[in-house]
Amino acid sequence: MSGLFITFEGPEGAGKSTNLKVFAQALAERGCAPLITREPGGTPLAERIRDVLLSLHEEPMHADTELLLMFAARAQHLNGLIRPALAEGRVVISDRFTDATYAYQGGGRGIDPQRIAALENWVQGDLRPDLVIIFDVPVELGMARARARSELDRFEREQQAFFEAVRGSYLQRAAADPQRYRVIDASGDLDSVRQAMQPLIDEVLERHHG
Ligand SMILES: Nc1ncnc2c1ncn2[C@@H]1O[C@H](COP(=O)(O)OP(=O)(O)O)[C@@H](O)[C@H]1O
Ligand SMILES: [Mg+2]
Repeated sequence: MSGLFITFEGPEGAGKSTNLKVFAQALAERGCAPLITREPGGTPLAERIRDVLLSLHEEPMHADTELLLMFAARAQHLNGLIRPALAEGRVVISDRFTDATYAYQGGGRGIDPQRIAALENWVQGDLRPDLVIIFDVPVELGMARARARSELDRFEREQQAFFEAVRGSYLQRAAADPQRYRVIDASGDLDSVRQAMQPLIDEVLERHHG
């Protein structure tokens, strides 16, 4: 049995973390308990880098610093947690991964995607998610949900235009590779999102066992 690497993507407030629990629970009930992790973070050291990335500092963080820290955390996460789990044949689900870097540091901050691709190739080799599930919501709705949830982190304080660019990047990447990407309309209630995930749960079980 080979491992399967799934990532949940989308802007703040799209419902990634909420729906990841539902998705993982459904897999577990059918005998396929996944390893759940998140980015930036996923190991103790990578979580420390996450703190640096999400918190506010006495000086603005340069976009290149942000990009490199994302990949520094990712190198630790991949080598310490994700690769070993995949090698054991597990299903791994990460709340965000490299598509978020293309969306936020690429679309949002304006870094050339070729630079991101160079780091992706260096840090990941040929490892890419088998399936990327993008939770798509209108920017206003995602921002409103994030505001209602908790105090805003360094990214959540960005303006509407930033999140429009993030959303556009995600949708563009999904459209370019429909085999590997699925877009879920996450603007409805939680039950409608759960229903939209159902075929993907079946597909994951089939791919993992088949
Ligand atoms: N479809 C939905 N309808 C209503 N509220 C939602 C929905 N999805 C998520 N929420 C709520 O919005 C907030 C953000 O959801 P969360 O899963 O934390 O999003 P993300 O991880 O994508 O930032 C949470 O308080 C969650 O309960
Ligand atoms: Mg979340």
